Amino acid sequence: MLEVKHLSTSFFTDDGEVKAVRDVTFDLFPGETLGIVGESGCGKSVTAMSVLGLVQRPGKIVGGQILFKDRDLTKLNSEELRQIRGRDIAMIFQDPLSSLNPVLRVGFQIDEAMFAHDKIAKEDVPERGVNLLKQVRVPDAQRRVKDYPHQFSGGMRQRAMIAMGLSNRPELLIADEPTTALDVTVQAQILELLRDLNQEMGTSIILITHNLGVVAGLCKRVVVMYAGEIVEEGPVEQIFESPQHPYTWSLLRSLPRVDEKRHERLKSIEGLPPDLIAPPPGCKFNPRCPFRIEKCFSEDPPLEMVGTAQQAKCWVTMKRAYAEMNAATITDTRPGAASGVRPPAELLQVVADLRTLEEPEVLETLAENPQLLEQMVSEEPAALEQLVADHPAVAEKLVTEETAAAVDGAAEDEKSE
Ligand SMILES: Nc1ncnc2c1ncn2[C@@H]1O[C@H](COP(=O)(O)OP(=O)(O)O)[C@@H](O)[C@H]1O
Ligand code: SF4
Ligand SMILES: [Mg+2]
Repeated sequence: MLEVKHLSTSFFTDDGEVKAVRDVTFDLFPGETLGIVGESGCGKSVTAMSVLGLVQRPGKIVGGQILFKDRDLTKLNSEELRQIRGRDIAMIFQDPLSSLNPVLRVGFQIDEAMFAHDKIAKEDVPERGVNLLKQVRVPDAQRRVKDYPHQFSGGMRQRAMIAMGLSNRPELLIADEPTTALDVTVQAQILELLRDLNQEMGTSIILITHNLGVVAGLCKRVVVMYAGEIVEEGPVEQIFESPQHPYTWSLLRSLPRVDEKRHERLKSIEGLPPDLIAPPPGCKFNPRCPFRIEKCFSEDPPLEMVGTAQQAKCWVTMKRAYAEMNAATITDTRPGAASGVRPPAELLQVVADLRTLEEPEVLETLAENPQLLEQMVSEEPAALEQLVADHPAVAEKLVTEETAAAVDGAAEDEKSE
């Protein structure tokens, strides 16, 4: 029903091109519920706005197709898009106050949404308006259609927005953080409402949220976005059971778990998503990834099948991280915490820090981070040589024949220079 193919959307700012959405491909079947998740700023809303033709200058769709019922929405003019919006595809936003007109009665606004598209017979509109409010469980709907938005509570305003969104029986509802501003109880009620709509009326739903827990309550399938790209996609249960991208894995670890007896401190993901004007080379998650390998700094991994109907964009994937990198025991997800491969700039600092430690601690650190030694050998042999000068046991206990030869070689090179 909806096929987004290689969608790219950029904002052309004074500082440069912000590549907010890059090469995003996903589809949605009739009656399906799809979640799009990721931290703030990773391109979820821009993806939705692109589908609806709502990207404003300096933003622009720079590539790809958006096929909705066999029409490419990127090729339509603004009038054609306006026809589709609100009629075939409806959208609800996080903040209903900014979308409801404060000086017009709620019922009037819902009716207007129907009059605007001529899909509902005019004589049916007033009654349908009341019924819609009843359907989204606004109490005393008959009377409350005459209220102004400020007379509604936050949860009720969100319901009114949903009623308005549903007024023309859209086939697709896109809900962008519909529950973020609401308290937990109201949030659960709104999600339940969306679930009923999907089941009873067959409305397809795209739910956008930064909270994977919210996705679990409603969606069958999930797309995980990071820095404007899809990094993982698959059936919700499977992704929860066996995430393959380190970013998804980190998001899941930062969720509160109801099934855990001990109340563990949540492990939030350290660091921030990258600058979308100049993201790091290679995998964009590399500055924050505990499982990175050297390749991650220079080569961008493709999105590949990693299981039945599951795709991930990662050179390592969690299967390997569990098998080879002690993923199960990691409590610290800060860069460099696990595999120990560090970006070059950090490496010298790490070596300098090591030199200030006592020898047993140095040996322990190197034993815990075998790749650190390898990386020093290949990238900073001179620094490694200094470390060995301070702590001879490093050479004796940990340097293999091959690495020792490399250190000797580096020392020779330096002498001959
Ligand atoms: N009007 C704009 N001008 C410049 N950059 C923008 C604009 N709107 C969004 N962006 C950029 O697009 C990125 C993605 O934004 P958005 O899709 O809103 O993220 P989210 O995942 O939180 O919904 C942001 O990091 C932001 O830098
Ligand atoms: S292991 Fe490498 S490719 Fe995979 S997420 Fe980490 S940095 Fe990216
Ligand atoms: Mg957003």
